[in-house]
Amino acid sequence: MTKSSRPNSSRAGARARERAIASCLSARALVRDISYFSTIDSTNKFALALAGGDELHGRLIVADRQTAGRGRFGREWHNQSGKDLLFSLILCPPPPQAFWPLLTLALGVSICQALSERFGLSAELRWPNDVLIGERKVGGILTEVSALTPDRLVIGAGLNVNGSAAALPDELRESATTLKAELGRSLRRGPLLEAILANFEQQYDVFCRHDTERLAESCRRWQGTLGKVVQVELGEQSFAGVAVELTESGGLVVRRESGQTQTLHSGDVIEIKPKP
Ligand code: BTN
Repeated sequence: MTKSSRPNSSRAGARARERAIASCLSARALVRDISYFSTIDSTNKFALALAGGDELHGRLIVADRQTAGRGRFGREWHNQSGKDLLFSLILCPPPPQAFWPLLTLALGVSICQALSERFGLSAELRWPNDVLIGERKVGGILTEVSALTPDRLVIGAGLNVNGSAAALPDELRESATTLKAELGRSLRRGPLLEAILANFEQQYDVFCRHDTERLAESCRRWQGTLGKVVQVELGEQSFAGVAVELTESGGLVVRRESGQTQTLHSGDVIEIKPKP
């Protein structure tokens, strides 16, 4: 680890957590360096602001608590202090950048695989970045590139792990869940992070070999959005359609009622349920 934590509870406790994370990730070739924080504003913000070049590739930033965690479109990312998995990974992926959105999906796949294989949970993705269990969101991914460092990607993920569902904010109680609520027990975050990164390492390898079709295929398998009737919110635009395909670069193709198709590269996609 390069940077010591700034503990807000006990320094010894923070060091122990730091060591536990490091030992879980020692076998991961992709993770070259770890920064652990007891409290930070946002792991993504920290990662984006780091000065440096290619040597930052593989730097993992993990926090126990975020005071200003952020989601897509500037939304707030809520966390339950000391209970969730909050991390950002810095990557300098090979070009072309048009394919980088696949990496967001690939991290989502890696999370779903870990939840399904380790805990038997039926997790799936809601395009582009939500991890769902049943119909509730348990995690999200935020990928950011700074205009100052366009060759570098920061891919951050937040997972609701050991918090109770009752402690979720009122506005999320219907739509979100936690792993503890789903499993009926707590789980260790270090081995979960290790499992996710082990999966992601494989996906990243496929990406680096430019086998994007294979990667897209594995993303399609975990995509719960495909085949669904959806409402698309895209800036000022809002329309309904059927999510028919995931492209090789991770775009979602939506077919409108008129038969016209549109490939989305961002936006929100909400499933429309048939009326009972
Ligand atoms: C979303 O669902 O909109 C994406 C949420 C991403 C949250 C994670 S938590 C770790 C990393 N740091 C942040 O500030 N955000 C991401």
